[in-house]
Amino acid sequence: MCVVGLGYLGATHALAMAKLGHEVVGIDIDSTKVESMNAGKISFHEPGLEVALREALSEKLVRFQTSFEMTEPAEVVFICVGTPQTGSGGSADMSFVFAAGETLSKAVSPETVVVGKSTVPVGTAAALRNRMSKVAGFPIHLAWNPEFLREGTALEDSLKPDRIVIGSWDDYSSHKLKDVYKPILDEGTPLVEVDVPTAELVKVAANAFLATKVSFINAMAEIAEVTGADAVELAKAIGYDERIGNEFLRNGIGFGGGCLPKDIRAFVARAEELGAGEAVSFLKDVDAINRRRRARVVTLAAQELGELKNKKVLMLGLSFKPDSDDMRDSPALDIALQLDQAGAQVTVHDPVALGELGDKHPALIREQILSAAAKGQDLVILGTEWSEYRALDPTAFGKLVANKLIIDGRNVLDVAAWQAAGWRLIALGRNVHN
Ligand SMILES: NC(=O)c1ccc[n+]([C@@H]2O[C@H](COP(=O)([O-])OP(=O)(O)OC[C@H]3O[C@@H](n4cnc5c(N)ncnc54)[C@H](O)[C@@H]3O)[C@@H](O)[C@H]2O)c1
Repeated sequence: MCVVGLGYLGATHALAMAKLGHEVVGIDIDSTKVESMNAGKISFHEPGLEVALREALSEKLVRFQTSFEMTEPAEVVFICVGTPQTGSGGSADMSFVFAAGETLSKAVSPETVVVGKSTVPVGTAAALRNRMSKVAGFPIHLAWNPEFLREGTALEDSLKPDRIVIGSWDDYSSHKLKDVYKPILDEGTPLVEVDVPTAELVKVAANAFLATKVSFINAMAEIAEVTGADAVELAKAIGYDERIGNEFLRNGIGFGGGCLPKDIRAFVARAEELGAGEAVSFLKDVDAINRRRRARVVTLAAQELGELKNKKVLMLGLSFKPDSDDMRDSPALDIALQLDQAGAQVTVHDPVALGELGDKHPALIREQILSAAAKGQDLVILGTEWSEYRALDPTAFGKLVANKLIIDGRNVLDVAAWQAAGWRLIALGRNVHN
């Protein structure tokens, strides 16, 4: 089989397929990525993936190339290229999907099943099938098989998914895909077979729901902040109701990453194109609540410090979530940049993401050693809940800073322990008496 696009999704999927025993050719237009994968190196941080890559290389189950040419046409080709946000309108940029599809059309046979895994606006698959069939000169078998992996646990999620969703126009394609996933399906993983538009929608609907849940509890945090209530206790209390559940119900600085924010914006844009914008217009509020939480931290910092100009602030964490170096639409990075804009001297620390910053945002002071990063800071903000931050000793850490003031952007610190060590701790949506 073949996997086109070797980013977070494609690299993980290629290696998950190799783990199932399939022979995989991975294709990416980025030659640096291809060379590095052939050398056993993954260009991003994802636990367990590099070990899986080395195993697959040594078993000769994977190889990577920039060319779409294959010695024999693949039986199944997965399209895993990016679908980033285009511009301010929020719609998704489909140019990578169509470009990959058109190049693929010249490399596949009438028997090949092409499978879309990228997250796309509903209707993309039909357009892609038409375009590809025109270029190939025969009808392309196309199916849609959305991916629900979470960065940080990507390989495990791919191998042990909550469900497999297959959308297809013909039995031939769905049978091929079920064959690919046989070892996973044999373990009892639920299979949901649907039409193609439903398969495209499932992914954006799931992300819209998750984003709404996070913004719901963040909206409750806004109310808690003006009423003296405690959003963490509130979440605990409502989360015991099985219909609500306590997952994804911790208030803080909100969601980010390469999926949720751009997926809800693209969903709204597509629904508006289809004349059904009203149905999902609430997602604009979901997005606005999410962004307001970032601004709230900047406001709190200014209130606590009197003014931000020349104040020293340390941001703990830059990636959008722990166990990942992905900084796409990261709340922590966004807040660090807003504080910098407001005149603060911002130092950033992250266990893995600093290297990814490269020469972007030169005003942010990078510090790899946490104790050095903490020295002389007026304010510390916990932006990403890495385990090493959760495990910090507030007494020892307090000896390094100039001012024992911390904003817990993720509500993960033990308030009593930090206060006992002399810290003033500000927790979003919480009635914390310092
Ligand atoms: N990252 C996740 O956790 C995740 C989870 C589920 C679904 N998705 C979806 O998967 C898709 C990919 O996301 P990602 O995070 O892996 O993106 P990414 O930007 O990390 O990777 C995309 C890759 O596609 C390659 N590419 C672009 N055009 C190409 C072409 N014509 N031919 C071959 N390769 C090409 C790029 O060089 C890049 O390596 C998106 O639609 C995303 O929404 C992502």
